[in-house]
Amino acid sequence: MQPTWKEIEQYAKEWVIEAGESIKEALEGSFQIKTKSNPDDLVTDVDKSTEAFLYNRITSTFPDHRFLGEEGVSEGIEDLEGIVWIVDPIDGTMNFVHQKQNFAISIGIYENGVGKVGIVYDVMKGELFHANDEEGLFVNEKKVTKQTERPLHEAILGVNSNWLLEDRAYQPELVQLAQKCRGTRSYGSAALEMAYVAVDRMDAYISFNLSPWDYAGGAVLLEQAGCKATRFTNEDLSFLEKGTVIAAKKQLHEIVVQQLQEGSQ
Ligand code: IPD
Ligand code: CA
Ligand code: CA
Ligand code: CA
Repeated sequence: MQPTWKEIEQYAKEWVIEAGESIKEALEGSFQIKTKSNPDDLVTDVDKSTEAFLYNRITSTFPDHRFLGEEGVSEGIEDLEGIVWIVDPIDGTMNFVHQKQNFAISIGIYENGVGKVGIVYDVMKGELFHANDEEGLFVNEKKVTKQTERPLHEAILGVNSNWLLEDRAYQPELVQLAQKCRGTRSYGSAALEMAYVAVDRMDAYISFNLSPWDYAGGAVLLEQAGCKATRFTNEDLSFLEKGTVIAAKKQLHEIVVQQLQEGSQ
């Protein structure tokens, strides 16, 4: 018999908690830090071992499920056919290295490209954001039901503040949005920032360049919260390609997309 999404979610929850324990142990000891695409793009052996742990658990329990992870423990995928687990073993590696907090394990489970289960686990706070499309969204065991739509002037926007300073496409529009909203926040973990929108701690999260593993878990949480996540152009997110992301309460999403598009014409 096929397991239900709730059962699959239960496995995922147990595995991220187990992985979180190993991450905490690693933080007590020492770990190796390397750089990837540039000197600020960090990766550690803990990112890799966490991805390997999750890959082994997933593929030994569900041999017909497929896997996409940031650290390349398995080969990449070219389509979203069947059940695909999209995993970021540590989202917020810079925070992991420098702050030893404010990072998360993120998992999105998709069936033929449709989000079924989302998990974002704040390891150090022990806060587990999880959702499946049968039961909705929870923080630990507390169901999240209330979402408040706020106008832009009362909204808190999650942005990477460095990008407000850089000369690039959409920069003037983003500066305007930052000026018009109530306040901005930068937590340094896309997965956590999307979870915060889903549970009403922020109203929107905006990013120029994220990969599928950064947003696959958060996108399911947001959908179950009745929020919306798309590209800046309002196109659907792709789970095979990188790109811009605007995640927000539904009405605010429309306003932000409109401002980004109006400005860029
Ligand atoms: C990063 C974080 C960060 C975002 C970067 C991502 P990583 O993921 O989500 O908040 O601004 O674009 O690459 O590399 O720490 O998994
Ligand atoms: Ca990374
Ligand atoms: Ca990430
Ligand atoms: Ca990562």
